[in-house]
Amino acid sequence: MYLVTGASGHLGQAVINHLLTTYKVPANKIIVTTRDVAKLSALAAKGVQVRDANFDDEAHLTKAFAGATRLLLISTSSMEPGQRIKQHVNAVRAAEKAGVAHVVYTSMPNATKSAVLFAPDHAGTEKALADSKLTGWTVLRNNWYFENLFFSIPQALASGTQYSAAAQGKTAYIARDDEARAAAAVLSSGKAEKAIYTLSGGQQYTVDEVAKLVSAATGKPLNVVHVPVEGLVQGMLGAGLPEGMARMFASFDAATAQGDLSGTPADYKTLTGAEPQSFAAWVKANASALSIPAAH
Ligand SMILES: NC(=O)c1ccc[n+]([C@@H]2O[C@H](COP(=O)([O-])OP(=O)(O)OC[C@H]3O[C@@H](n4cnc5c(N)ncnc54)[C@H](OP(=O)(O)O)[C@@H]3O)[C@@H](O)[C@H]2O)c1
Repeated sequence: MYLVTGASGHLGQAVINHLLTTYKVPANKIIVTTRDVAKLSALAAKGVQVRDANFDDEAHLTKAFAGATRLLLISTSSMEPGQRIKQHVNAVRAAEKAGVAHVVYTSMPNATKSAVLFAPDHAGTEKALADSKLTGWTVLRNNWYFENLFFSIPQALASGTQYSAAAQGKTAYIARDDEARAAAAVLSSGKAEKAIYTLSGGQQYTVDEVAKLVSAATGKPLNVVHVPVEGLVQGMLGAGLPEGMARMFASFDAATAQGDLSGTPADYKTLTGAEPQSFAAWVKANASALSIPAAH
């Protein structure tokens, strides 16, 4: 039995889709968990077992994980740093107690040394897996999704200016759907291992290169203004962002500048046997969505 947590989320939905369609896993071999089972009634109708589970409650999680052999632990929201590591450790302990053989976890690139302020949540979860009695685990260090651009680009295009502290650092963006495909591949493979992979797209881009692609696709000017990390923080504070959030977002740029988010598609190809989707083609295809502020 394969179990997927966070199955109501963007990544979780895509993983289930790949399990069912790409890897032909029968619906009755899949268990999904959520804090709100009503959200997953469409999956229940297909024959997937839907179970209630909250990462804040280890005993409850242990019951929810019963009967699962391979489990995909999708990281919870980064907007609760500190809280998240407790939730993930609860999930690792619950998996041990429930007799799960193998846990697959969605981490981030260079988790143990990244400048991203929530990296310790991922590094701590990786350590919990390494220290656990589980017979196997796979860490998927997921690089930044293409879809993250929906949060930054519309606003930058509206003013024509993007402030960046990423300098000439590069990001190997990858489609969220490709991350989902790789997770489904590992989960359904049955492979016993204790391994770490980094999932990155086929090409890496500086902020200036991304701005050029966006400008060409949308026909709108986008000028990148390079500032120091503290300057970026102060700018966000001036725009009314709470300090914790401003420092978190600025830490993404600090991480990019020091190369934490660069990468190659080698691991993605090893796990899926496929080429990752093209970032440049995605930017072109999403030009209108990138031009208007929208919830994604
Ligand atoms: N690499 C990247 O660029 C990138 C970008 C964004 C996010 N991420 C990470 O990847 C994860 C998945 O992304 P996503 O886009 O699918 O996020 P999402 O749509 O926000 O989904 C997050 C899922 O986490 C579950 N969850 C949250 N708190 C929980 C708790 N206390 N107990 C049990 N389940 C809980 C939610 O399930 P229910 O509400 O159904 O319980 C939800 O399905 C994120 O949470 C984040 O850690 C990575």
